[in-house]
Amino acid sequence: MKTVHTIAELRAVLAPKRAGGVAMVPTMGALHDGHLSLVRMAETPTVVVSIFVNPTQFAPHEDFDAYPRDLDRDLKTLAMTGADIIVFAPSAREMYPDGFATTLTVGGPSAGLETYFRPHFFAGVATVVAKLLLAALPDTAIFGQKDYQQLLVVTRLAADLGLPTQIIGAPIAREADGLAMSSRNAYLDPHERAVAGNLNKVLREAIARARQTGDLREAEAYGAATLKAVGFDSVDYVAIRDAQTLAVIAALAQPARVLAAAKIGKTRLIDNLAF
Ligand code: PAJ
Repeated sequence: MKTVHTIAELRAVLAPKRAGGVAMVPTMGALHDGHLSLVRMAETPTVVVSIFVNPTQFAPHEDFDAYPRDLDRDLKTLAMTGADIIVFAPSAREMYPDGFATTLTVGGPSAGLETYFRPHFFAGVATVVAKLLLAALPDTAIFGQKDYQQLLVVTRLAADLGLPTQIIGAPIAREADGLAMSSRNAYLDPHERAVAGNLNKVLREAIARARQTGDLREAEAYGAATLKAVGFDSVDYVAIRDAQTLAVIAALAQPARVLAAAKIGKTRLIDNLAF
């Protein structure tokens, strides 16, 4: 395993490995088994794992300062996987040099849902992901379905820019009670952690309800009310959408996805499930 901090170093270490194939797993660190499941999905001998808490995807009132950071621990975790991993851990200055003035905006799947509550978010994600993919030029890049809207936005971005990278979506890794693994779960106190375990269960119930009644808006409202009833402080959305475009749908005629974002105390959690 090798750790590099600059784009120039990354390109230099990748040059002799390119012929064998390179996969990339972009992360913000605080690595957990969900991140490692993406690393394990790589089918190439070399995997670049980037670790960068990207300031441009956080709004000023969000948790950029509090976001968990422990590079030494992350490096030990990655070393234990035994894979040929190159860790790319750039500084903010390396990613956003003085005078940086470029922002990418993706339309299509970025509309609504997360964008409604975090309007700055996908421009920050798209800009940094484009930059990471251009730095490494991997054959494949693996993103989790945990951030389902992000996966669709990144897929759109790669196609629209003609990047030579295939975007792969990985299944959601969950704790024993079904809570989707997330670096932000570290914020939860024991009571909040117990409440959080209900998120995926309530999404299952919303799916069952939508199937039973066919009334998708009622199933969404039921999901949101149930999240509050089990102890979530606020619900940003429970939404049943077209799985490919995230467009609002009136009936379950095509593959659908239920997506949710809700807060417990200061922690905002997201999850989603396929129908
Ligand atoms: P981060 O939240 O660290 O997540 C990195 C990758 O791990 C994302 O593709 C995310 O979907 C995936 N992931 C997180 N938890 C997961 C889980 N429980 N199961 C499966 N995959 C999971 O997402 C980001 O960072 C950033 O927005 C980034 C893409 C790195 C751009 O800054």
